[in-house]
Amino acid sequence: MNELDALVESARAGFVQAATPADLENAKAQYLGKSGRITELMKGLGALSVEEKKTRGAAINQAKQAIEGALTERRQALADAELQAQLKAEALDVTLPGRQRGQGGLHPVSLTLERIEAIFGSMGFEVADGPEIESDWFNFTALNTPEDHPARSMHDTFYVEGGSEKAPNLLRTHTSPMQIRHAVQHVKRHRADLDAGRPMPEIRVIAPGRTYRVDSDATHSPMFHQCEGLWVGENVSFKDLKYVFTDFCRTFFESDDLVLRFRPSFFPFTEPSAEIDIQFQHGPLAGRWLEVAGSGQVHPNVVRNMGLDPERYIGFAFGMGPDRLTMLRYGVNDLRLFFDGDVRFLAQFR
Ligand code: PHE
Repeated sequence: MNELDALVESARAGFVQAATPADLENAKAQYLGKSGRITELMKGLGALSVEEKKTRGAAINQAKQAIEGALTERRQALADAELQAQLKAEALDVTLPGRQRGQGGLHPVSLTLERIEAIFGSMGFEVADGPEIESDWFNFTALNTPEDHPARSMHDTFYVEGGSEKAPNLLRTHTSPMQIRHAVQHVKRHRADLDAGRPMPEIRVIAPGRTYRVDSDATHSPMFHQCEGLWVGENVSFKDLKYVFTDFCRTFFESDDLVLRFRPSFFPFTEPSAEIDIQFQHGPLAGRWLEVAGSGQVHPNVVRNMGLDPERYIGFAFGMGPDRLTMLRYGVNDLRLFFDGDVRFLAQFR
C-alpha cells in the first residue's frame, strides 16, 4: 500500500472512531485542516518539477477526495444515529390502550322522574317547573291554608330571607304551590276565551321537583322530591282521578295486578281528599298497603285563587313521592342512600 492509500485508510479509521460530530470535526482537522496532512502534502508540491507536480498533485487530490468522501459518509452516519436515538427516546406506543373514562348514569330518582314525565306525557299532561324558594302565599294561603290553620304545623319548614312579614319566603314544603302558579298562567293565556264565555282548554299538568321539610330519618329526608298533578276542566271528576292514577301506577310498576285504595284523608286544598295506597300482589312486598300519594278534588277556594269560577270549573290534584316510588321499584329500604352520593350505590342504576 502506498503512502497516500495508507493516509486515506488512517483517515477513514479515525473518522469511524469519532463517536460524536465534535470528535469528527477534530479528526477532520488532522487531515484537511490548515496544518492537516493533505495540506502539508500540497505544500510539498512546490519543490517538484512540472511533470512530477502533475502526477503527484493528481494523486494527492484523489486521496483528498477519498478522505472527504469518508468524512461525508461518517457525518451522515452520525446524524442518522442521532435521529434514531431521538426517535427512540420520544417513542409513542400507539398500541397502548386508551385511558378509560368512567361511564356515568342518571340518578335513580331522575330515572323515576323521567318515567313519570313520559307516562303522564302520554296521557296529555304538560310538565311544569317552579321555584324551590316559595312565598307563603303560594305554599299555604292560596292553597286554602290560612296563617292560623293547624295543617301548617304538619309542614314545619325552613324560612329564608326575603319576602314580607305577612308573606315570608320559605323552602316549599310540597309541589302544590305549582297548582296555583301554573293555573294562573294558564288562565292568563286563555283570558280572551274566558271573557267571551268560550270554553277554556283544560289544565292538565304535572310539576315534579324538590321539596323541603324539617324531617330526617330512614324514610324522611329534609330534602325530598314530589310530583304534583293537576287536571281541571268543566267536567273532571274523582272517577278521572281514579283511572288516571291507577293507569299510571300499573304502567310505572309494569304490573296489571296492582291494587289501589283511596283512603279518606284531609288536605285543606282538596275536598274530598284521599291518600292513595297501592298493594302489590306478588313479590317481597305482596299484601302490604303502601302510601304513594295524597290527592283529592280541588277545593272551590283554590279554584277561585286560580282565577276560575268554582261553579264552572272542577278538577282533581295529587301529590306523589318519586323517592318512595323509586324505593319500591328498586327495592331500596333506606331513603338516605339516594342522597349520600355514594357511587357504589348509584352505579347499580346505570
Ligand atoms: N301536597 C300534599 C302533601 O304534600 C299532597 C297533595 C297534593 C294532596 C295534591 C292533595 C292534592 O302532602
